[in-house]
Amino acid sequence: MSGPVAPSCFTFLVPRITKNRIIFCLLLVNLVLIFLYSEVKRQSSSLSRPNPGGYRGGKPEGINTDSSSHAPASDALIINSDIGDPVIFEPYWLKYGIDMVIPPWHSISYVSSQRQISPFFEDFLIDEIISVHKIVGNAVTKDRHIVIGAGSIQLLQAALYALSVNDRSPPLKVVSAYPFYSAYPMVTDFVQSKLYEWAGDAMDFEATSNRDGYIEIVNYPNNPDGTFRHAVVNGSGGLIHDLAYYWPQYTPITSPADHDIMLFTLSKFSGHAGSRVGWAIVKDLKVAQLMSKYIFLNTIGLSRDAQARAAHIMRYVVHHYSQKGSAPYRLKTGPDNTTLLFHHAYDALKHRWKELRGLVVSGARFTLQDYPLAFCTFFGETTTSHPAFAWLKCEQDRNCEELLNSVNVRSRGGHQFGILDPQYTRISMILNLKEFTTLHSRLALLNNSSQTQCEIELTTERSDWSARYL
Ligand SMILES: Cc1ncc(COP(=O)(O)O)c(C=O)c1O
Repeated sequence: MSGPVAPSCFTFLVPRITKNRIIFCLLLVNLVLIFLYSEVKRQSSSLSRPNPGGYRGGKPEGINTDSSSHAPASDALIINSDIGDPVIFEPYWLKYGIDMVIPPWHSISYVSSQRQISPFFEDFLIDEIISVHKIVGNAVTKDRHIVIGAGSIQLLQAALYALSVNDRSPPLKVVSAYPFYSAYPMVTDFVQSKLYEWAGDAMDFEATSNRDGYIEIVNYPNNPDGTFRHAVVNGSGGLIHDLAYYWPQYTPITSPADHDIMLFTLSKFSGHAGSRVGWAIVKDLKVAQLMSKYIFLNTIGLSRDAQARAAHIMRYVVHHYSQKGSAPYRLKTGPDNTTLLFHHAYDALKHRWKELRGLVVSGARFTLQDYPLAFCTFFGETTTSHPAFAWLKCEQDRNCEELLNSVNVRSRGGHQFGILDPQYTRISMILNLKEFTTLHSRLALLNNSSQTQCEIELTTERSDWSARYL
């Protein structure tokens, strides 16, 4: 626009230069400059404006937030029930979650608090963690130290370091009773530490007379089979209790867990796996300090944004339960219970388990692990487990994972969990609804079919290492 203004001013002035004509021209040029300036400002502010409805709040526009709509519809598409991605929680948060805002100036500094054993842990997150455990009654937090890390996997490594760094003996043996979570061996041996090494099934060492030099990982309810576990070797190296699934939606809460090192994760508490927030509740101050040191040297703490998000989520959960008083929080007190996280997730899992068990008993091809009834202090009634994974056994086929592969369902075969019997495979129960429905119908197809595994053509390859780690 400025282009034509200069020549037209020039032709306007040249025949007769008067004061009025000069003022008029200057005014015109000024107007053009003001217009140009406001245009540039408008464009740059639209670039820096936060994604509307994204981080700021509201349901993101233009982004498909329902992961179930990404689910494959056709038989040719793959259902990935191999990984334990907790997207089952997504509809809950989409419906009930409250938006949060983190302004750009917030949490700029590396450090946050002076109160905790590490300046990288946010005071307000520690307070929310304690409140959550108080409401649920699943862990003792009094006189304990809380260490925050990038998911419970980082905390597991921090705990291995803390338990072994001052040990003079050769590498400590890390064991867990089989079937054990498939990440344990990978994580333990990944950096080929001189301090510790994976030694396999804890049962192999049960009768060991000298229990020096063993660190045992106890996972309850256990991934993959959902059973309750106790330490087997109980060696001098120490115990790490992985309680990722000790929440009321998965299993009855029978009493507050009270162990030396207990690991929890936001991933399975509320489904926010992508935030990468985990916490350890630790009895011994020195161990907690060493774990914090590991996390400091490994990642200089955990993202403060992630810590803020975790606290926001926990505050929401605690607020809604505390409005109802204290436990027990009955399962059938009215429709408003669906607004409560654990009630909502419990209902969803219970329903899926009912469907899967119904399918399994209607044929002879598969069987599932049975779980005992137990009194859940959180719900105030007797319930049973609805684990995040089903430990499926194929009664007639040689290889259960391969059988499921044949109908384009990815699962995780028993060998990944330390067992040699290929009749077992693990399927996720926490995938999105559309995928679960398709998974169910494909298993039903196999259940009603007399085809053997060899007659069904394999159509796809196995998933890569990264997917199989989770
Ligand atoms: C038993 C168990 N522990 C730990 C983890 C890791 O959780 P995070 O996402 O916090 O690293 C998982 C994830 O599936 C798990 O099943």
